[in-house]
Amino acid sequence: MVAISEYVLSEVKNGVLIITINRPDKLNALNKQTIEELHEILVEAENMSDLRAVILTGAGQKAFVAGADIAEFANFSVEQGKQLSSLGHFKIFNFIENYSKPIIAAVNGFALGGGLELAMACHIRVVSDNAKMGLPEVSLGVIPGYGGTQRLAQLVGKGKAFEMVITADMINAQDAYKWGLANYVTTQDELLNKCFEITNKIASKSPTAIKTAIKVINAGYNNSLNGFEVEIEEFGKSFGTADFKEGVGAFLEKRKADFKG
Ligand code: COA
Repeated sequence: MVAISEYVLSEVKNGVLIITINRPDKLNALNKQTIEELHEILVEAENMSDLRAVILTGAGQKAFVAGADIAEFANFSVEQGKQLSSLGHFKIFNFIENYSKPIIAAVNGFALGGGLELAMACHIRVVSDNAKMGLPEVSLGVIPGYGGTQRLAQLVGKGKAFEMVITADMINAQDAYKWGLANYVTTQDELLNKCFEITNKIASKSPTAIKTAIKVINAGYNNSLNGFEVEIEEFGKSFGTADFKEGVGAFLEKRKADFKG
């Protein structure tokens, strides 16, 4: 990667981009600069055709991301609050959800407020057994503003989402797994290995089809679209791709597919 960032580290390993939010002394809280840097790295990585997936994690042993930077928004006006939310949606949260490559959150500790919202915007969540997750915004007199009210309900159902948001309680990794918020729970030592196990599978599949699958699954959660109709359309388009020719050809020739995307 060429992007030079103060609060976001990035490294490519075996076709996977590992992004680390790096403000451990502030528990990796998302300030404006971190959001900008994260956005820039993701924009740059989207055009790297040999990158097959992204893993997003937090620096240190204690936190994934402990939320939006409270000190930074402490004196915001109504208008600034609205801008904070809409810019965040645009630059990070919706951007990640609709990213063309799968993004896995490696949740290595506290994922609170914007931190849990960040993990929820990712396509898959692997959580270490020390992690604590919650949306504590009502303790501060605000509500979740980076998609938390919507994505938490999508992942855990409306009842549990109400409970978590209204009580501001944190839940542990096992409960997150039980409720569908975490795909897997591992030890902190095993966290990245588990993510690589998933990205290895992704890397052997068609990038074109994966990109389309992300688009179509998301379409089902978009009120202005009909997910089934988008699926029909995109399914049809798949037949015109080089990856389809390669995938089906490899199957019929009894060889391993070599997808170029
Ligand atoms: N924004 C800004 N700074 C934050 C932060 C946030 N969301 N979360 C933690 N920090 C900072 C603390 O202010 C502290 O900085 P300091 O050393 O300069 O005082 C540092 O990170 C370490 O946090 P600290 O509170 O001392 O750690 P702890 O182990 O006692 O508590 C938490 C950990 C996560 C329980 C606690 O930091 C917390 O409640 N954070 C806020 C979580 C939150 O409400 N997030 C939603 C924001 S909308």
